[in-house]
Amino acid sequence: MNKKSSKKNIGFIGLGKLGLPVALAIESKGYKVMGYDISPKIAEYLRKRKIPYQEEGAPALLKKTKIKLGSVEEVVKFSDMVFMPIQTPHHEKFEGTTRLPKERADFEYSFLVAGIKDVVAAAKKLRKNIVLVIISTVLPGTIEREIKPLLNQYIHLVYEPLFIAMGTTVKDFLNPEFVLIGVDEKAAARALKNFYQTIHRGLIYETTIKSAELIKVAYNTYIGMKIVFANTVMEICHNVGADADSVTRAIGLARHRLMSPRYLSGGMGDGGGCHPRDNIAMSWLAGKLKLSHNIFNDLMMAREHQTEWLANLVHAEHKKHKLPIIVLGKSFKAGTNLTVGSPATLLVNILRERELKHTHHDPHIDDKPLKLKPAIYFLATKHEVFNTYRFPKGSVVIDPFRYFKNRPGVKVIRIGEAKPATK
Ligand SMILES: NC(=O)c1ccc[n+]([C@@H]2O[C@H](COP(=O)([O-])OP(=O)(O)OC[C@H]3O[C@@H](n4cnc5c(N)ncnc54)[C@H](O)[C@@H]3O)[C@@H](O)[C@H]2O)c1
Repeated sequence: MNKKSSKKNIGFIGLGKLGLPVALAIESKGYKVMGYDISPKIAEYLRKRKIPYQEEGAPALLKKTKIKLGSVEEVVKFSDMVFMPIQTPHHEKFEGTTRLPKERADFEYSFLVAGIKDVVAAAKKLRKNIVLVIISTVLPGTIEREIKPLLNQYIHLVYEPLFIAMGTTVKDFLNPEFVLIGVDEKAAARALKNFYQTIHRGLIYETTIKSAELIKVAYNTYIGMKIVFANTVMEICHNVGADADSVTRAIGLARHRLMSPRYLSGGMGDGGGCHPRDNIAMSWLAGKLKLSHNIFNDLMMAREHQTEWLANLVHAEHKKHKLPIIVLGKSFKAGTNLTVGSPATLLVNILRERELKHTHHDPHIDDKPLKLKPAIYFLATKHEVFNTYRFPKGSVVIDPFRYFKNRPGVKVIRIGEAKPATK
């Protein structure tokens, strides 16, 4: 297994934003990879060697890839191990870009179920044993309820959710914090462990499928909780004159008792295609299980209220200076063009709800450059490039990340930054 020549063939059913970069990362370790995706766009990305989303390291791998596409049957025939990162979406209203509706819902599993049925049928037809590795995010109990009744003796199932951040998928896959293997069948776990020994030296944590399902969403929602906490600190600092970064930096030093400093600085709410939606789905599960307290609901409502508070600051400056409002940044984090689950969109939706006219611009997304004029500029994404913008005199810049540097004639409000001490 360690020699290149004896490496197993790897299949992918689903080559979306997670699947394709992971397939490229696996190929970069010397594996032969074949995939199938119902969307014709994937064939186009491979043909043109270009993806529309920003993923560090993926464009270079895409240039030299030999990944082949085939039918489900061809992929099953070719592969010893098949990874399945099919989408488990939520309705748009559960993505965290609008105010939270009253109702809650589980993810939509029909795409994943359809993909599983195809693989099971192909394995049966070919009478071929495969290790099937589901990567998609699901709530605990889903695989037992939705997937296991569909399987046959040829499928050896592993649930392996990945702890990767969109934008750095290749790097995170090749250098993980740990690999989580959820398995109810030891032989399948062994096969996956042997595979990972050829990829990296990362820690492997094995547990049951149900526990693995919960670990994935518990991890993602814990990040949401850290961000809500850091933003609470920021809001207090803004009110009392303490310094948000100084406070969170100190808490981040307490690595023995508390935590790592990641996701622990005040700014915009949690965002992206995973965290807000996982939190909302967990608030549904908390309701279904009649938990004594629905902390996931609290977290999402806190995120909404904190965004509303930022909108209040914009509103107040707008009233004071009678200047137009320009929100800079649409993507959910710096350096990407992904807007899914973006707190910037939530902020803009709240401004719209108040009928506050505004322009929304992101240089990573919009082709047309922004014409700068005296205005209230709110930095909703921490893109480095905003520090190079020459905002006209008389403008106000509101910066929840405290990274924008002073310049003459421009009022800069770095939210949560300590005011100079009075003697
Ligand atoms: N993107 C991430 O960074 C990330 C990180 C961790 C977990 N996840 C989870 O992974 C899963 C996939 O996420 P994504 O962002 O890649 O979604 P995506 O929508 O970008 O990709 C899913 C792909 O599966 C394809 N597909 C759907 N049905 C299929 C079928 N029957 N056969 C073959 N292909 C099929 C789609 O056409 C699409 O290309 C989700 O459950 C998500 O929550 C994603």
